[in-house]
Amino acid sequence: MTSLTSGQRVTVITGAAQGIGRRTAELCAERGDALALLDIQPSPLPAGADAVSLIGDLSDETVVKAHTEAIMQRWGRVDALVNNAGISFITPAEDTTAASFRRVLDVNLTAPFLLCRELGTLMLAQRSGSIVNVASVAGLLGIIDRAAYNASKHGLIGLTRTLAAEWGARGVRVNAVCPGWVKTEMDMHDMGSGAYTDADIVGRVPMGRFASPDDIARAIVYLTDAQASPFVNGVALSVDGGWAADGSWEQLRRGKQEL
Ligand SMILES: NC(=O)c1ccc[n+]([C@@H]2O[C@H](COP(=O)([O-])OP(=O)(O)OC[C@H]3O[C@@H](n4cnc5c(N)ncnc54)[C@H](O)[C@@H]3O)[C@@H](O)[C@H]2O)c1
Repeated sequence: MTSLTSGQRVTVITGAAQGIGRRTAELCAERGDALALLDIQPSPLPAGADAVSLIGDLSDETVVKAHTEAIMQRWGRVDALVNNAGISFITPAEDTTAASFRRVLDVNLTAPFLLCRELGTLMLAQRSGSIVNVASVAGLLGIIDRAAYNASKHGLIGLTRTLAAEWGARGVRVNAVCPGWVKTEMDMHDMGSGAYTDADIVGRVPMGRFASPDDIARAIVYLTDAQASPFVNGVALSVDGGWAADGSWEQLRRGKQEL
């Protein structure tokens, strides 16, 4: 077993190979966390960190159990879990197959549930821990051509609220962050399919820009920190530059952006 320094957190981050998860890993390494970085592809290890990359499809229960075992063998505890791995799927509802719908739910909702169950059980035994589920503005609002993705993210917020209620009394906080549009590989892939343009997104966000992975990672880090957010439990924190708050029509919003 690797020894931890006094107060050092063990933080588990899924989808840490790129994008939001990778930036979250860098920030957690800066504050000294030991890191288990879970992804279907290898994750880069932040320089100087006590970190391990664990590879596998997290929708597979046997993979989740094996990773949990590896984490416990290495450190013997877990303090924070960031369920960030996810897949996008943009298709009209009437063309969405059952297999595609199930796959999106498996990765975006079942995998986080399995990780919450396995690692949350260990946190409950410790009577401390923080779980952050990365949902989306698509977990709060309907967005055209994303039936499976939006259903998965709405479900993830429902899971978050339920576990917050179920586990809060035993020292385990469970929260969600809801990013707006973020410049990552996921966004580049979605935009490459012609589904939307930069101008579509920038024009819709009150703050008039995309999020960076760093914008989202900082909110995640805040929620994993028991000193920074000790009584925050069960929230779905929008980190979207005001997208979900804004019911204005386009011309009204653009008028303010041009001032
Ligand atoms: N990019 C955005 O605009 C945006 C907006 C709102 C929410 N989100 C959410 O934020 C999270 C991270 O998004 P991102 O933009 O950094 O995405 P990304 O595609 O850049 O990274 C996702 C990571 O998850 C991993 N992954 C995918 N399926 C996996 C599986 N079955 N098992 C293990 N790992 C798997 C990928 O390998 C990848 O490294 C996702 O849950 C996404 O839905 C993203």
